[in-house]
Amino acid sequence: MSQDKKRILSAIQASGQLTLGNYLGAIKNWVALQDEYECFFAVADLHSITVRQDPANLRKNTMDIFKIFLASGIDTDNNVLFIQSHVSAHAELAWILNCYTYMGELSRMTQFKDKSERHATNINAGLFTYPALMAADILLYQADLVPVGQDQKQHLEITRDLACRFNGIYGDVFKVPEPYIPKVGARIMSLQNPESKMSKSDPNPNGFIGILDKPDIIRSKVKKAVTDSDGIVRFSEDKPGVSNLLSIYSACSGMSIADVEKKFAGEGYGVFKAEVAERIVECLSPLQERYDELSKNKDYVEKIYRESAEKAAYVANKTLRKVYKKVGFIPGR
Ligand code: TRP
Repeated sequence: MSQDKKRILSAIQASGQLTLGNYLGAIKNWVALQDEYECFFAVADLHSITVRQDPANLRKNTMDIFKIFLASGIDTDNNVLFIQSHVSAHAELAWILNCYTYMGELSRMTQFKDKSERHATNINAGLFTYPALMAADILLYQADLVPVGQDQKQHLEITRDLACRFNGIYGDVFKVPEPYIPKVGARIMSLQNPESKMSKSDPNPNGFIGILDKPDIIRSKVKKAVTDSDGIVRFSEDKPGVSNLLSIYSACSGMSIADVEKKFAGEGYGVFKAEVAERIVECLSPLQERYDELSKNKDYVEKIYRESAEKAAYVANKTLRKVYKKVGFIPGR
């Protein structure tokens, strides 16, 4: 791996199936970054258990996400694609960072507030200290840049605060990471409630398109997507449903929104929706084919995640050893 490339780390939680929103808003961009940067991408299964998970589902979701990453074209010769729980340094550094994180700062996290409302019977300590684990994910790799969506900015801020606090006490241990805002990043909204983000935890499956949804399902979900009554294919704030479909068409086809508007000038929503569905199918089909092949090739997938965990652990343990030494632990291994 080259020394002069900047380093990127990002991760996706292994809860629920991934959506078209995750693909167009995150994964597709990550694939585009992998040649210019040295990338570490993780499936964050440790984070997932802050909300109760069925073990079989967690296993399936973790593997699915891993295979989706591979299928979307992450080059694992030059980048590291790994499963978070395979690298024990994440849990170890998270513990240490917990001891440098204040209750007050954790209480201010909007994701904690949201999730504790949604899971009122299981407000556990892990959910509260989630940002310390995320900070560990990032700081272990001395990442320069972290691509995150709007909803994770606050967690990146606390990561930076923790890095500075730790460096302030012990000298330069951690690189202080910057957020990476992609030049083009589609923000895909729910098909049923276009005011809110398309989400894998949407209880209404018609609200989101799964990356692994089959063409017929995609067509039927797009057909049911909420629009409006004025019947004009135009991007506008007061037309969130149609605007979202335009964004999806544009992101899948590479055409600008203005060109898509022109293409459908004078057409009704029926025709437009049918074409949106076809663009999504075209966008996801090659990925789904590779995913199916990987599913038949378990040994290959296992080889990749085992080798990647080793590569990740090599980098992570270097940072962890330094931290252990700095805080005053006696070297024992
Ligand atoms: N918390 C992130 C999310 O829910 C996932 C995540 C875990 C992450 N560790 C990370 C993102 C490190 C960026 C960097 O989307």
